[in-house]
Amino acid sequence: MRQPKIVIVGAGLVGGSAALFCAVAMPGARVVILDIERVRAEAQALDLAHATAFWGHDRIQAGDDEDADGADIVVITAGVGVKPGQTRLDLIQTNAAILGGIVDRLAPRAPDAIYVIATNPCDALAAYACKRLGCARERVISTGTSLDTARLRALLSQRLGVVAPAIDAYVLGEHGDSALIHWSGASVAGMPLELFLARTGKDLGSASRALLLDSVHQAAKLIKEGKSATHYGIASAVGRICQAIVHDSHLVLSVGVVQPEVEGVPEVCVSLPMLVHAGGAHLLAYPQLDSAEAEALQRSARIVKDVTDSITA
Ligand code: LAC
Repeated sequence: MRQPKIVIVGAGLVGGSAALFCAVAMPGARVVILDIERVRAEAQALDLAHATAFWGHDRIQAGDDEDADGADIVVITAGVGVKPGQTRLDLIQTNAAILGGIVDRLAPRAPDAIYVIATNPCDALAAYACKRLGCARERVISTGTSLDTARLRALLSQRLGVVAPAIDAYVLGEHGDSALIHWSGASVAGMPLELFLARTGKDLGSASRALLLDSVHQAAKLIKEGKSATHYGIASAVGRICQAIVHDSHLVLSVGVVQPEVEGVPEVCVSLPMLVHAGGAHLLAYPQLDSAEAEALQRSARIVKDVTDSITA
């Protein structure tokens, strides 16, 4: 991709942080921030221009819709956030209406763009955006459980004393309370997890595994109790996804694109390990799940499908 243009819609904490990761990770990319409040986009772009000057990036700007012309990637972070007592799924109607408006305005300007949907509930919204755009499935990517997977690997890294990139373990399904850990496919330092545990004498019994899943599910709530918002984690996920698209790197990430079928649930967007490249993301091979994991994935897919089907916007 020559001088890629990445348009980030939403100049809040998530959009601003995502712009920062994109600029630092891709010094040659033009990063354009759009927001319904132009003044907020201008302020973020100004702050970020100062920040990124240290890193040799000088192409960050605030813009209007016309600045999305010919965008290679459109990242959607705009929308309302989860308030105490709500789940991500409760935001569906409000954020679908916001997303629908954005997609309708930008699609004619950036007909070849790949969309990265970070607004929650990201999986159902990615499916909605894909339908509304009428584009190929692989061109609309939900950030999905890429963040949950990072959270799991960070926890496992502390627990096992192994750096996170050496831990090949994925969180699958909904980016939300029904996400599951694919334990049966996990490996560490080139060994199946069980073998690694046996050889190192480390313990990760079923109670510990249940606690780890709970920690992944509760991570956003915990962060919000201390600072009202989560943004670095999801912004880093966005940066990594965009970098994989721009560099055509065929990186494997747990993100969502609409699948024809997942565990018997048709036309649903849930996360599985996907290959992320210049054309978007696609499933290379369906993972081998044990029966409990297959059941949990089916339940998760059903939840996402029902929420997707409930969109009235
Ligand atoms: C989180 C938000 C992005 O989990 O859903 O931090």
